[in-house]
Amino acid sequence: MHKVLEPKNGIFYLTLALETSCDETSAAVLKNGREILSNIISSQIDEHKKYGGVVPEVASRKHVENVNIVIQEALDVAGVGLHEIDHIGVTYGPGLVGALLVGVSVAKAMSYALGIPLVGVNHIEGHIYANYIECKELEPPFLCLIVSGGHTHLVYVSGHGLYEILGKTRDDAVGEAFDKVARALGLGYPGGPLIDQLAKTGDGKKIKFPRTYLKDNSYDFSFSGLKSSVLNYLNSEKQKGNSLVVQDVAASFQQAVIEVLVHKTLEASIEKNTDTIVLAGGVAANSGLRELLKEEANKLGFHVKYPSLVLCTDNAAMIGCAAYYKYINGNQSDLYLNAVPNLTL
Ligand code: KG4
Ligand code: ZN
Repeated sequence: MHKVLEPKNGIFYLTLALETSCDETSAAVLKNGREILSNIISSQIDEHKKYGGVVPEVASRKHVENVNIVIQEALDVAGVGLHEIDHIGVTYGPGLVGALLVGVSVAKAMSYALGIPLVGVNHIEGHIYANYIECKELEPPFLCLIVSGGHTHLVYVSGHGLYEILGKTRDDAVGEAFDKVARALGLGYPGGPLIDQLAKTGDGKKIKFPRTYLKDNSYDFSFSGLKSSVLNYLNSEKQKGNSLVVQDVAASFQQAVIEVLVHKTLEASIEKNTDTIVLAGGVAANSGLRELLKEEANKLGFHVKYPSLVLCTDNAAMIGCAAYYKYINGNQSDLYLNAVPNLTL
């Protein structure tokens, strides 16, 4: 166990956090790890939309242009001066290397110039910590389903920084599957929110897309078969000259995804004997997933928690919360901290 540091003068810690792992430039200021004083998110979505996905070089350039502005805004909104910040948290992986490097370089420069500690944070861990901000009484142990554009993990969290990975995707991440199906349907980028919206008025039972449970009660996931099945369906309908009911395709695809996610999550909760389940990552914003998980978990007497929409997708506040807990548990980084694009949990 690491030594737990005492709050300075018994007052509080102020964390400045940076997140630049993908297409959001974000800076946040937090008080004692769980209270957001500011959480500024500058999204590049409009820049990438025309290409149908994130272009790494464009992302890096936009981060360079925006990072100082976003940091200043985070300080201004929080009403905090740079000299008052106690430590800096920054995402150092996983993500796009050029994008990560912007945040890491700025955080290291600030740590050195201000003489304050630096804490490198794993982006996936950050997503989990969004729940600690949202739900003030949340403490481990709990089960966490992390579903984002790049990751799909079922994790048992037994303590701060203590993770047992029960399952992960063997191919596409859930958000990736949403985005690819949305693209095939001619919807915009990112596709997840658009499919979620269309699914609300569609029939989720209309088209029988496959549910991939995998063998031996595995907690791993696979979504590439489902994605191919949707693409095949679209092609065959086109060849038959049938007109598509996009809402039904969206709802049937979403239903196939969330049934598998919910089933495995509940099975894992039963096995780990934990009655608290939390959702994390961009796809945790999905209304169908939130509803079905809550409904099925209620039947078993389990509690489900998820972050508000702004804390589901990428933001610096979640990184700040994770940085705070790492810091008070005695973990900090040195100035050799580097971007690690394929960092694992
Ligand atoms: O966590 P995030 O912002 O970035 C990564 O770390 O990957 O997640 C972005 C992903 C995208 O694939 C996006 O389509 C998906 O989250 N997403 C959703 C919804 N909102 C965002 N997927 C399904 N339903 C939503 N409402
Ligand atoms: Zn993310």
